[in-house]
Amino acid sequence: MSQVNFEHLFTPLQVGPMRVPNRICETTNTINSSMTPGMIDEHFIAHHVAKARGGTGWIGSETWLLNVPFPPETPDEIGLSIGCAPHGAAYQYPAFAEGMKKFVDEVHAAGSVAIVQLTQLTSAWGPSAVPMVGAQSYTPHVLTEADIEFCINTYADAAAVAKAVGADGIEVHCAHETMGHSFLSPVSNRRTDKWGGGPTERVRFVVEVLKGIRARVGDSVALGIRISAQEFRQGGYDIMEFREMLYAIAETGLLDFADIDTGHCWGAPSYVPNSYYPHAEYREAGKAAKEDLSGLDKKVAVLFTGRINDPVLAESLIKDGYCDLVGMVRAGIADPEFANKAREGRLGEIRRCIACTRCIDEASESLYIPYTPMCSINPVIGNELRWKDQYKPATKKKRVVVVGGGLAGCEAARISALRGHQVTLLEQGKRLGGQLLIASRAPGRDSFEDQVYFEENEMKRTGVEVRLETKADLAAIKALKPEAIVIATGAVPRVPHDVEGLELPHVVYGWDVMTGVAKTGKRVAVISQEDYYETPVVADFLASKGKEVTVFCKNVHLGWEVARYSLGMVIARMESLGVTTVPNVTLTKVDAKGIDFVSAVGSKTSRFEGFDSVVLVYGAVAQPELYEQLKAEGGTAELFLAGAAWLPRRMAEATRHGAHIGLAI
Ligand SMILES: Cc1cc2nc3c(=O)[nH]c(=O)nc-3n(C[C@H](O)[C@H](O)[C@H](O)COP(=O)(O)O)c2cc1C
Repeated sequence: MSQVNFEHLFTPLQVGPMRVPNRICETTNTINSSMTPGMIDEHFIAHHVAKARGGTGWIGSETWLLNVPFPPETPDEIGLSIGCAPHGAAYQYPAFAEGMKKFVDEVHAAGSVAIVQLTQLTSAWGPSAVPMVGAQSYTPHVLTEADIEFCINTYADAAAVAKAVGADGIEVHCAHETMGHSFLSPVSNRRTDKWGGGPTERVRFVVEVLKGIRARVGDSVALGIRISAQEFRQGGYDIMEFREMLYAIAETGLLDFADIDTGHCWGAPSYVPNSYYPHAEYREAGKAAKEDLSGLDKKVAVLFTGRINDPVLAESLIKDGYCDLVGMVRAGIADPEFANKAREGRLGEIRRCIACTRCIDEASESLYIPYTPMCSINPVIGNELRWKDQYKPATKKKRVVVVGGGLAGCEAARISALRGHQVTLLEQGKRLGGQLLIASRAPGRDSFEDQVYFEENEMKRTGVEVRLETKADLAAIKALKPEAIVIATGAVPRVPHDVEGLELPHVVYGWDVMTGVAKTGKRVAVISQEDYYETPVVADFLASKGKEVTVFCKNVHLGWEVARYSLGMVIARMESLGVTTVPNVTLTKVDAKGIDFVSAVGSKTSRFEGFDSVVLVYGAVAQPELYEQLKAEGGTAELFLAGAAWLPRRMAEATRHGAHIGLAI
């Protein structure tokens, strides 16, 4: 049992007319959990209500995109490019409101409150002819007075629907490059009319939106804004201007809460900060806002969000005056039950978010594909209904042997054991964790070790017998008389076939460098044929040890497969570590003095010299040999091949594969 005394986290808070049962908030996260685009279906309800049942008091679910009055002849791609159908927004359809009502009722039945976030996006139109999102190419159509009035009305219309379906709170989205933000920011609001000017003038749009909502729904619903405490871009507002703007908005008496975060859609940090950023890094903004607003007649609750994955930290943020409410979104994606576990003193059972950002990357890259909830470490997310159906005690208790203690092996063992099987896990290394142990050696990925601790704890809790430093062969497996065998023996680094000079002593592999098996000199060439995180992680590891690192990558930039919300953070981190990159090259030859390349897409050749070491990052190759041997032998045991031993992919795939095998045994 934990000794932590949560004196604040589980106390209720009155926010305007809304009584929030505790301080833990699922701020809005559009993870695309509905299978029916734009509508609220059983998948959406299962996904978000799981968090309410798990003890999260404030459920922000997914944003409502508001309607846009594009000219009737506007081609569809304009509407789609800003994520909203040109023929109206979802909230305007009765079926949406019906679904939402059902959802809100279920949130209430779980004891939580439902908050609706209202969003006007801005890539196609904005206050001034300045692209709102740096990385975007559209220069927006400039809003006319009539357009502005139209927009203000859309918020009020949607608020009326939110109230009608029983929502407890309404949040106007004024962060993340949405329309509210575009008016607040001096970068995108260059207007010289009444909508532009200094900080207290740029708030006019937000204030008018709030007035419009209040006029429609009165004081019966808690009203707030989501606002970014600081802009991380050339010419953006700083924390002092943020304070001025927030005060000016709150002074009107229209606000019940201010939901504060930081970060952008593209760039660094993202508003979904990854593991490179400290927990609650910008917490001072919450404290400043609390102090500033404390003198107002009307109480404004301050919600602060930003990589808070631990209830103990959340408790201390409230206790020490940084905020009244704590945003914990990914904490609930990684473990929807985390709040209940904390309250019951089961802290060791919490699966903590490792901040890999797979959830937002998946959601943002597939805006028009429904149903993308994905988590690297929680196999249930995005599969809630399947789990409801299949996660049952085993009808026959079996002896299960799992070979390999990486993510896939651990999850297969954990779920099998939870379902009642007797499980033995054989791991050749000194610890569980597999590739997680390698990745977590890079300073920017140290949080990955949290998942290793989770699996280690779970093995004990679920009664899996773990045998470390145990090499499994056919005889060792057979001796355990298994009725089901899971081979999760992972992968090894891929060795290129068509490169000369790889036998030279200064040529080594990324994994060997990370595990300390291989050493490098001062000037290191990282040659990458891998476009996701392995390459930046190896570069991070080397550069933070003081090496001069150049990455030669096969695509037009490093991290080609890293999604748009996270790429900026990767590039910025590499920049801050002094890592340089050479794009669009494929290695052909290494010799004592240099390295030769050919263009990845053309035939131009190039040569680089002056490196002490060459580190290859070529992805991984599956190791299914033990599985093949067992299969060839025949036998009566059920046989499964799991995770990277089948196909080396990313963490989420290994987690899901292992867990689903655990369901199938
Ligand atoms: C998949 C996903 C979708 C998100 N969508 C929204 C959104 O629609 N509106 C919003 O204000 N924030 C959105 N966010 C940001 C979260 O509300 C939250 O601020 C962010 O995840 C950081 O909090 P955390 O560290 O507790 O996860 C999203 C986050 C995730 C992970």
